[in-house]
This record gives sequence, C-alpha cells and structure tokens, in this order.
Amino acid sequence: MTDFSGIKTPAYFYDLDLLRKTLAVASKEADRYGYKIHYAIKANNNPVIARTVSDHGYGVDCVSGNEILRAIDTGFPAGGIVFAGVGKSDEEIELALSRDIFCFNCESLEELKVVGETAKRLKKVARVALRVNPALKADTHRYITTGREENKFGIVLPHLRQALDYCKESPEIEFTGLHFHIGSQITSLEPYKKLCDMVNRIWREFDISGYGGKMINLGGGYGIDYRHPDTNSIPGFSSFFSLFADNLELPGGTAVHFELGRSLVGQCGRILTRVLYTKKGAGKQFVIVDAGMTELIRPALYQAVHRIINVSSPGRPERYDVVGPVCESSDVFAKDILLPRTLRGDMLHILSCGAYAESMNMNFNLREKPGSVYFSEGEIVKGGE
Ligand code: LLP
Repeated sequence: MTDFSGIKTPAYFYDLDLLRKTLAVASKEADRYGYKIHYAIKANNNPVIARTVSDHGYGVDCVSGNEILRAIDTGFPAGGIVFAGVGKSDEEIELALSRDIFCFNCESLEELKVVGETAKRLKKVARVALRVNPALKADTHRYITTGREENKFGIVLPHLRQALDYCKESPEIEFTGLHFHIGSQITSLEPYKKLCDMVNRIWREFDISGYGGKMINLGGGYGIDYRHPDTNSIPGFSSFFSLFADNLELPGGTAVHFELGRSLVGQCGRILTRVLYTKKGAGKQFVIVDAGMTELIRPALYQAVHRIINVSSPGRPERYDVVGPVCESSDVFAKDILLPRTLRGDMLHILSCGAYAESMNMNFNLREKPGSVYFSEGEIVKGGE
C-alpha cells in the first residue's frame, strides 16, 4: 500500500509506470501500420510527463508558441512538431518557422496567407497541412466537439479548393496534406469510421494527391473510461488503429499521423486532496476538500464525471456532495456519491486527472498552483527522477 501521508495537498499525482506502459502499447499498435503519433501537449504540459512521452519517440502537437518551446525543452525534436490552432499570432508563426517545425495545420485562408508571407520574408518554406472542417458530428459534450460546421475550427469544404490553389501557387508553401480533428473524449469508434469515409471522399474529389498531398493527420480525441479507471486503465489502441487501417483508402505511401492527448496521459494522473470540513446541508451532506475547480475544472465546465475514492476511511458508505473551497457554486466535483463515512483530515483521490487538469489549472481566488508528485518503479518520487 502506497504511503501518501507526508504529501502536501492538493497535489497532482502521476503514475509514471502506468504512463510508460500506456505509451508502449499505443506506439506498438500504431507501429503495426507505420502510423505516427504526435502527443497533444495541451493535455498535460508538465515537464516530467512531457519528457516521459518524448523519451518514447513521439512527435508532438502544439497550439501555442509556449507549447512549442516547452516541447523542445522537454526533448521533442522540432522536426516532429505540428502546430495547430485557429489563432496563431505573428510572433508564434515566426517562432515556428525559425525552429523549422514539421508542419503548420492551417485553419483559414487568411492564416494561410500570413504563414506564406512570413515564410517569404524569413526566406523559409512553410510545410502546411490544411485543417478541414468535415461538418461531422462526434457524440461528445458540445464544448469539445470541433468538427461540426458551427465550430470555429478548420476550413469548410466550399473554401478548400481556394486554399489548395493558394498552396500550389505559393513557392514559400509546401503543401503536405490534410488535417482533421473531430472532437475529444470520443468513446465510440463510429465517428472515426465516418471520418474515414469522409477523408476517402475528400481525397478523391479534391485530388489531394494531384496537389502533392502525401500525409493525412487524423487528429486525436480518443476517449478514456472515466467510470472504470482501474479495470480500464489503458484505452483500446488496438481497435482504434485497426479501424483506420481497415477503412482508409488512400494512395499507397500516404503517411498517416494522429494527435493523441487524453488517451495517452488521462489515466496516469489523479488529484490528491484532503477533507477540510464536512457539514450537513438541507437534506444532504457536504465534504469540503482542499482541491477546487482551479485544480480540475472539468466537472464545472463539462459536467464531467471523475471517480472519487477515500483512501483513509474504511467506514460504512454514506451519500455526499464533494465540493471545493472556491467561491463559485459550480465548484463541485461530484453530487450525491457514495463514500465511506468521511471525516476532516481524510485523503480523497480524484481519479483520471492526467489530462486537462494540471494544464487547465488557474489561480482564481489567488490560489497557489499545487505541486506534483510522481510514482515510478513502485515508489513515490517527489521530482520525478
Ligand atoms: N488535436 C487537436 C487539433 C485538438 O484540438 C485536440 C484537443 C487534440 C488533438 C487532442 O485531443 P484528445 O486526444 O486529448 O482528445 N479540455 C477538454 C478537452 C479539449 C480538447 C481540445 N483539443 C476536456 O477536458 O475534456
């Protein structure tokens, strides 16, 4: 049994053994088909986590200049960086060009022109994939779908031809292929099957190979099992990648890339938090913990479910709302859940917090950023070494 007693809470806790196992499984399954994975560093940019991913030979997907710098600092080769995002600033574009990244994922005609003009000024050639908005519905929370027509992401099909022609006519742009990303926390393979059909059709209809396209980037979004993190700690990468192998119909030699975030790092993290107070409310009991929405905003923002366990108490189960100390009524981690009888000082763990917890941390109420603790080769190590 791991001894958590000396740890200052709240804390982000990462099981690096599980992370390494997950990374090994994902790359083994991707390697079967020669697929390349870029780690979506937005999921977790903690240097120890990022370094562990880069050690496994992954590329990286960045959405800001600072993410590019963090990725390079933590060992990702610049030649494996893809740079996405609807709002790349002039400085970020210059930075990416000066570091010679693998590819820009361009999201609008206007951006494409700025990338081209900047490359010309810097006497560089920008490798560019066009991000397509496939007008496809992925079955997930409305805040994390990205491939629907109403979403801000990608170039809509009526404008794709113009963007392709612009690339063709611009010597400072090297067109590499197409980029798609349909959403996040997608737990069924059905939307990906539809994506493959869409990609096959677009590739043919727009003669992407005729424009020099030799790469497809299918984004990320593969979900994790938030309800059963213990029994389902490593996502089904085998069925995920084989679905693409079975359904993509692209010319031989087309490189296939992915940008996975949550599925790689989601299950290896948890938040350690202690109970500050318990109190009875109108017809309910509250457990007030020292972590808040500042450490994990997902339940407040997306009504996300994270399993919570009490590692201190073996008591009989009772019903509780688990809430944080932040001055917002939405600062609630779980409503009406069963926990063993819980007392001040007990330690709770909020599970499946490896993705979009630490990277979305904020200092509202001037709260301090929690420290991180790592578990590696069977023991707790404070700095990850
Ligand atoms: N590629 C692109 C272009 C993306 O926008 C994203 C995520 C990814 C890859 C990685 O997606 P993943 O494999 O991690 O699902 N904060 C939300 C998730 C936002 C995802 C944003 N984009 C959450 O906590 O659920």
